[in-house]
Amino acid sequence: MPTVQEIRQASADGEPLTMLTAYDAPTAGIVDAAGIDVILVGDSMGNAVLGYDSTLPVTMEEVASHTGAVARATEDALVVADMPFLSYGTTDGEGVENAGRLIKEAGANAVKIESGPHTVGLTERLVDLGIPVMAHLGLTPQRLNEVGGYTRQGTTEDEAREIRELARRHEEAGAFSLVIEHVPDDLAAEVTADLDVPVIGIGAGPETDGQVLVLTDVIGLSESTPPFAEEFGDVRGEIADAVAAYRDAVEGGEFP
Ligand code: KIV
Repeated sequence: MPTVQEIRQASADGEPLTMLTAYDAPTAGIVDAAGIDVILVGDSMGNAVLGYDSTLPVTMEEVASHTGAVARATEDALVVADMPFLSYGTTDGEGVENAGRLIKEAGANAVKIESGPHTVGLTERLVDLGIPVMAHLGLTPQRLNEVGGYTRQGTTEDEAREIRELARRHEEAGAFSLVIEHVPDDLAAEVTADLDVPVIGIGAGPETDGQVLVLTDVIGLSESTPPFAEEFGDVRGEIADAVAAYRDAVEGGEFP
């Protein structure tokens, strides 16, 4: 397992970082064996595998359980667990306890927090306690009800300035890396140039230090994908074919 320092060093050496989500042991094992640097147990599990229509209902119990499955199946990648909506931000004590639980009980190596002015102090506190933090700026889907949709962020000069400032403040607070989601390519490039820690983009262009996508989008299992995702396989079709072949074999008396 690489340490967060090794992830920082690899990026400083100019290696593009690869990050993918995973939510269970079999897929985490495949992602890990493929040499992906960072596995994110994202709260995107809400849409991707739990049947919710947003990330908002995802609970600490769900993230902890899925993180445990991923951590048990992962030998080489850094496992980052996402802090679900309202598991932080109410009081710093609650945020510390929930982040600690994902490290101590579930086996994550770091936590990711959808960031804002309210998470600078928490990031500092967690880092002081030895809990590595990945910050997340730009489109932060836990603010769905405030933003009104999964729209591109940082498109006005004020928004872009706020993202640049928050990125710097989270680096100063000790975050070991930053995810920047669905912002203009030039803003992501500026933030990447501005920070020493690795910036990992999603829907943020080619100029970041690494890329992250949701696994079910990449393998072609999701029913719908965001505009910036790319399908590199057709697992939905493969599953449908296998299930239909099984059904036909049983109904036709060929199996068992
Ligand atoms: O929850 C998630 O999977 C994420 C990534 C899309 C960055 O936050």
